[in-house]
Amino acid sequence: MTRHFLRDDDLSPREQAGVLELALAFRDDRFIRTPLAGPRAIAVIFDKPTLRTQVSFLTGIAELGGFPLPVEGSLARIGVRESIADTARVLGRQVAAIVWRTHAQGRIEEMAAVAGVPVVNALTDEFHPCQVLADLTTVAQHRGGVGSLPGTSLAYVGDGANNMAHSYLLGGATAGLHVRVGTPQDALPDPAVVARAAEIAAGTGGSVTVVHDLAQAVAGADVVATDTWTSMGREDEADVRQQRFEAFRLDSAALALAAPDALVLHCLPAYRGKEITAEVLDGPQSVVWDEAENRLHAQKALLTFLLERA
Ligand code: NVA
Repeated sequence: MTRHFLRDDDLSPREQAGVLELALAFRDDRFIRTPLAGPRAIAVIFDKPTLRTQVSFLTGIAELGGFPLPVEGSLARIGVRESIADTARVLGRQVAAIVWRTHAQGRIEEMAAVAGVPVVNALTDEFHPCQVLADLTTVAQHRGGVGSLPGTSLAYVGDGANNMAHSYLLGGATAGLHVRVGTPQDALPDPAVVARAAEIAAGTGGSVTVVHDLAQAVAGADVVATDTWTSMGREDEADVRQQRFEAFRLDSAALALAAPDALVLHCLPAYRGKEITAEVLDGPQSVVWDEAENRLHAQKALLTFLLERA
């Protein structure tokens, strides 16, 4: 059966651990796997801006022996010029997989339902699961490997209703993390996602908590993460959002409340002085450049996993 990666919980805890182990293996340049040799093409489509995702997928597909095929989102205009289903039928006849960054999660679900080849979520309004795979890889890299992830506490502070919050909840729970989201009352994560994460956590020994106080969220955390207060597509709300999340800025005082050796994550792009201070982002506890590099390794591992099962 064709497997997709549309949300973090599309991988079981065991499967996720396997992908993370493979991602760590890919960090070694001498570890080479070419499941796309031929080369087979993978379509990579962006309906929103991108830097890390574009570079890491195009590079990663080439390194797996494949042919990265950029499909210009603004020309294809999927769902406008042609239906999502018809686009899926056309792509599925010609490529080995489809990587898509788009708006509503329902769009990528529609693509996956018809494509007949693996579909990978390269960010939607609701989830950013490839980023959380990279984040978990980064924590494993800096701690005692994948086996050390269960029981680790991760505080995510800022916009609790965005794609990163949702993916930390689901992906973190899958890895057995204690995930704490610190966000204002008016930026709550989707209750269905929180409930699903709690269900997963019950089986992995993790937990999920949503709090409305920065200090409470970060207290004693092993990992502290944040994200922009204004996600792509929300630019017209930037001023209101700045006020709404002001009390959740990750600065040195907040970081001092976390574990003394806490790791700092940020999916980037970062806005220094807004959601995170320069001192923290560029400071000794920050592992954001490893995190950005691990997009490459984690996605190579994910594609290898999906293609082996396609
Ligand atoms: N929440 C951000 C993530 C960027 C990688 C956004 O959707 O713009």
